[in-house]
Amino acid sequence: MSVKSDVLRFLLESNGEYISGEAVAEKLGVSRMSVCKAVQSLIADGYEIESSKRIGYRMKCLDVLSEETIRGNLDENIGIYFYKETDSTNNRAKELAIKGERTPFVVVAERQSGGKGRLGRSFSSPKGGLYFSICLSGKDVPDVDLITTSASLAVAKTIESVTERDVGIKWVNDLYLDGKKFTGILTEGIVNLEEGGLDKAVIGIGINYSVPLSSYPEELLSIVTSLYPDGKAPATRAEVIARCVEAVIDIQNKEYLDEYRKRCFILGKNLFVLRAGDKREAFAKAIDDKGHLVVS
Ligand code: BTN
Repeated sequence: MSVKSDVLRFLLESNGEYISGEAVAEKLGVSRMSVCKAVQSLIADGYEIESSKRIGYRMKCLDVLSEETIRGNLDENIGIYFYKETDSTNNRAKELAIKGERTPFVVVAERQSGGKGRLGRSFSSPKGGLYFSICLSGKDVPDVDLITTSASLAVAKTIESVTERDVGIKWVNDLYLDGKKFTGILTEGIVNLEEGGLDKAVIGIGINYSVPLSSYPEELLSIVTSLYPDGKAPATRAEVIARCVEAVIDIQNKEYLDEYRKRCFILGKNLFVLRAGDKREAFAKAIDDKGHLVVS
């Protein structure tokens, strides 16, 4: 542990109250100057820290998203790659996977400049949202067909426990609250052509968490929502990401399709099916054991 990460930990643990630089220096067995340098370096990294010569330092905003705050909440066997901004965490995760980085790992970004959605769409990724991609070895994915459905249910349950509100799933990978989408999932795979089958899976998850609604284009507001648009969330972004990552890894070896079916609000409804540029009306009858939608 470096002085910087220790100072960060003290600041976060003091819940927005001032802590004296002298007391921190004494606890860490370092000089006050080292503590001051660590604070300056944290400010340069973007942490909002208030300092007063008389009373010390305090963290102005406790919802800090960084490698350290994610690590504080996440199982130590899961690797973390953190970016303040990147085009797409799925792209970074695939690069790392191809380089042979040890799995499981997660790539997290505070915002994305080129967030990708399904079917070649873009995914709006302003600050306040949770954007992360989990990379698993193909060996840890018992059923490739079910990766997206399993991740959808794991994230739905995690968000439900945070918000204490009912989360619905629109087959196959969209999570809804009060009729509006707040989460999308994009799964990509790396195939091993020699051995055949899935080498690595990248599960990219985007959650509109504490994004002000003004951050979204006007035309999206009738279909998209944010869980805490005023920023008053009950759990930090780091905590929610860590809980989702662990839930997605955990669900892989479980039976869960019946629970998924119960949450899937399109079953028993008429809908439009898009296939190869063709759009036709159909009735959503069931979800089969491979997670496929059965229509008539
Ligand atoms: C969709 O709704 O069509 C899927 C959206 C998936 C967005 C997430 S955000 C993290 C990861 N990185 C991306 O570029 N996309 C996924």
